[in-house]
Amino acid sequence: MNVSDLMKSMEYGPAPESAAEALAWLVDRGDRFGHFIDGAFTEPGPSFETRNPATGEVLATLTQANADDVEAAVAAARKAQPKWARLSGHARARHLYALARLIQKHARLFAVLETLDNGKPIRESRDIDVPLAARHFYYHAGLAQLLDKELPGHLPHGVCGQIIPWNFPLLMLAWKVAPALAAGNTLVLKPAEYTSLTALLFADICREAGLPKGAVNIVTGDGAVGEMIVAHAGIDKIAFTGSTEVGRKIRTATAGSGKALSLELGGKSPYIVFEDADLDSAVEGLVDAIWFNQGQVCCAGSRLIVQEGIADDFHARLKTRMAGLRIGDPLDKCIDIGAIVDPVQLDRITAMVAAGQGEGEMFQPDTALPGRGCFYRPTLITGLSPASTLMQEEIFGPVLVSTTFRTPAEAVQLANDTRYGLAASVWSENINVALDVAPKLAAGVIWVNGANMFDAAAGFGGLRESGFGREGGWEGLLEYLRPDVKTKALTPPVKAGPAEEPAPADPLDRTAKLYVGGKQARPDGGYSLAIHGKHGRILGRVGLGNRKDIRNAVEAARKAQPGWAAASGHNRAQILYFIAENLSARAEEFAGRLQAMTGAKKTEAAAEVEASIERLFTYAAWADKHDGQIKGVPLRGAALAMNVPVGVIGAFCPDEAPLLGLVSVMAPIIAMGNACVLVPSEPFPLAATDFYQVLDTSDLPAGVVNIVTGRPAALAEPLAAHLDVDAVWSFSSSALSAMIEEAAAGNLKRTWVNHGRARDWPARDGEGRAFLRAATEIKTVWIPWGA
Ligand code: NAI
Repeated sequence: MNVSDLMKSMEYGPAPESAAEALAWLVDRGDRFGHFIDGAFTEPGPSFETRNPATGEVLATLTQANADDVEAAVAAARKAQPKWARLSGHARARHLYALARLIQKHARLFAVLETLDNGKPIRESRDIDVPLAARHFYYHAGLAQLLDKELPGHLPHGVCGQIIPWNFPLLMLAWKVAPALAAGNTLVLKPAEYTSLTALLFADICREAGLPKGAVNIVTGDGAVGEMIVAHAGIDKIAFTGSTEVGRKIRTATAGSGKALSLELGGKSPYIVFEDADLDSAVEGLVDAIWFNQGQVCCAGSRLIVQEGIADDFHARLKTRMAGLRIGDPLDKCIDIGAIVDPVQLDRITAMVAAGQGEGEMFQPDTALPGRGCFYRPTLITGLSPASTLMQEEIFGPVLVSTTFRTPAEAVQLANDTRYGLAASVWSENINVALDVAPKLAAGVIWVNGANMFDAAAGFGGLRESGFGREGGWEGLLEYLRPDVKTKALTPPVKAGPAEEPAPADPLDRTAKLYVGGKQARPDGGYSLAIHGKHGRILGRVGLGNRKDIRNAVEAARKAQPGWAAASGHNRAQILYFIAENLSARAEEFAGRLQAMTGAKKTEAAAEVEASIERLFTYAAWADKHDGQIKGVPLRGAALAMNVPVGVIGAFCPDEAPLLGLVSVMAPIIAMGNACVLVPSEPFPLAATDFYQVLDTSDLPAGVVNIVTGRPAALAEPLAAHLDVDAVWSFSSSALSAMIEEAAAGNLKRTWVNHGRARDWPARDGEGRAFLRAATEIKTVWIPWGA
């Protein structure tokens, strides 16, 4: 071939990276690995093979951990934790810095080993995975250094169990290990069974870095090992990245255990292209969005939503580009698409696409595939209906599905028509279009005119069935910390008088009704609860809410929430002040009610009302001050971390402060733009039913606050299982925590429950940033931003 031919074809010759060093590292270790526990490798035990998916060759044998191994790893982490946490932030920072330096020092070895084990192109492991992993340790060295002064009043959870997937083995390890260590936790990490080698190399550098024994423990094996970690009583927090299906199992398995949990799960992220986009850039962005790492990316832009008028043109350009993608030996530096991680995953992709055959039009370039190994051609499927399985389900391979839209509103509707909410891309040269659409997308991460931008400083994580919690940034560090407060066990609630009685037929019935959609509503079942004062006298009756009442209240809250969220923080503050003013005008009456219900002294009851007024002021103050951040990312862009409302929150209010507790829960929820369904104290609900009269006179839009009285034990499951509720909180003295966490697994909503521990409502423990954080999601929006 001469130079002029070359200029025409623009063909590259092969440029393979040598595997010699990585293979020598494996040979040095006898090609067999045990676990890394208490600073040393254990003897290899019952084993399984790990293979190079590009060739099928065995790379090494790994040990399948058993219960004793997990026990030993947890014990080592437990033993090491107090000492690790007692180190100064600076001392931990030095350790993290040493790990960052060593990842850089061994960067090529890490990259080659990753590519051998996972099948991803060396260009990606070398230029993306490994540098980002090092960056994560540097960034968290910084957080460890600053933690004591910047986040006083926090403690580490203790021992973390961390379970990671196979798509970014080293990077996911970094995302988990760095914040855990920075915050003073120790950990037991389980890499995915297909890709454990870089975790074992990392174990090696932990020794080289002189990390204290037991701070990092790594056990290998399949999902059964993950289950043992999740179930282990010696673990205080579980951090998981992987499929939504397993995430749901982990939510269920940890329900009621008191373990903290963060889940980073699947996605079916929309990639929206408007007709005024720079189409060639959008095609390039899409190549990165869906064919990076063979599409095995949780936030892959796997759902193309393209404006109708340019769809044919865009698809044509895309097909041309697809035909130019080079598939083959992942160690070749000129390769765009490497191998799928394992034959199991290749079969899964093949089967999903085959099952959807005939539903749309499929395009695959006729690029030759290597004669062996797990390869799959880049694939585009057009003409699918929004409801088709291929449109809705995560394929987790190099398969792009596409549909069209006409108006921006339709684009948003299609984009949000998914049970997931991890990431989204918007492409338009019109700043008004892009910045109008971006905030309307239901996703934790949004890229404007870009895709797959990541950095340690910027939080990453999802909404809906993409999980909860963030990784990266201060927000990611907080997932590894808990408040430093001593809590007491909650004493059981005071008995609420006799069992339910049919409502009297009297048309002048004085039973306090439920409060739904800004109106008083009779309970669906027609039953009421008698509320007795301290000396047994009946003070009144409240409606006995049931499942149907919860459904109505959720519907009202859902309807009201978008409008309320769109109100400015200033407006919401005005309404909170007005509520406070109206409560203040009736302070004596409320104090009298509290006294009668709880038997509190006059001064105590008056103090509770005063504290409630003050708390309303507190959240009126916060309504326009829970500011986001602009993250210092090393890219040509600004990453905005915006605090956005969670949506509809269901909350079980405390018994020990019937008015202050209700206000302390309601006020942050509505201050941040959420709507709510509140279940007041079971024994003392009359303060709540009086309170809705205050709401009625305070200009609060109908449906923003809904109140369903009744038995929390009967209402917890319907509220926590409701698919249109985004989060559930419980501060009730009824034992609801396990029930709520378990029922929440359905749509993986966020939960914040007390696990039977009391909170000091009048004190600082009863208000503050923890409430604001629980009432908001951090949405990271990446915007191209100058030089
Ligand atoms: P997976 O969710 O089963 O595996 C992820 C990790 O969880 C691995 O370390 C695995 O050993 C562990 N695990 C499996 N079952 C467990 C259990 N019951 N308890 C605790 N840990 C457990 O993912 P898998 O089977 O490898 O892939 C299946 C599908 O999941 C993919 O096709 C893809 O759709 C999705 N996936 C999504 C990922 C993401 O980042 N969103 C990552 C990996 C897979």
